[in-house]
Amino acid sequence: MKNYNVVFISGTPGTGKTTIANNLKKELESKYLVEVLSINEIAIDNNLILDFNEEKNYKVIDINNLNIKLNEIIDNYKNQYNHFISKNKNNTKLIKPKILIVEGHITHLLNGCDKLIVLRLNPKILENRLEKRKYIKEKIQDNLESESLGLCSSEGYELYENKLNEIDTTNKTIEEITRIAIEIIEDKSSLPIGNVDFLDWFLK
Ligand SMILES: Nc1ncnc2c1ncn2[C@@H]1O[C@H](COP(=O)(O)OP(=O)(O)OP(=O)(O)O)[C@@H](O)[C@H]1O
Ligand SMILES: [Mg+2]
Repeated sequence: MKNYNVVFISGTPGTGKTTIANNLKKELESKYLVEVLSINEIAIDNNLILDFNEEKNYKVIDINNLNIKLNEIIDNYKNQYNHFISKNKNNTKLIKPKILIVEGHITHLLNGCDKLIVLRLNPKILENRLEKRKYIKEKIQDNLESESLGLCSSEGYELYENKLNEIDTTNKTIEEITRIAIEIIEDKSSLPIGNVDFLDWFLK
């Protein structure tokens, strides 16, 4: 593994991105310097929410400027870390490799990661999770269709090809999913696009 690794976690709303990113930090912290960023927070902090689409009930985000901002943040972290290494040349072995995790629903559309992990979840189970939120019916339906069609994965594939991994989180505990994600991050396994298929939900 490189000294500095950038991992993006994407997936349909409700698939567990925030939960898994935070648990990854907890599990990886003894071996690595881990930082978790939320792409939503970056967009809000930098005024990159352009509009709210009332009809479809989603935020319109300035993706181009979000991409620029995120990559400034990534470069800054890299520079800070390199500085840290060069200052400690004689004991670099003592320095933990760094992992920067950026989680959020649109990360698969943004540049800058070494690994993209898309969390997938059977739409039937996702439906129960989304019903607990105050989403309107149409928004739930849109999200379930997106998940069934694997939209985050197919969009992410255009940019990331074999750097893209899909984890089927259905019926898995947070700990199990975290373990699988760690194997991907540490190059011990890969789960290329195509191993998850929820199309039958769409065709029902
Ligand atoms: N493996 C799991 N098993 C059971 N429940 C889970 C699992 N992963 C996440 N959850 C639960 O599902 C809900 C949604 O998780 P979370 O908020 O992490 O999703 P998200 O992908 O970050 O959603 P959003 O895109 O809206 O930010 C939470 O209540 C969380 O506790
Ligand atoms: Mg979240």
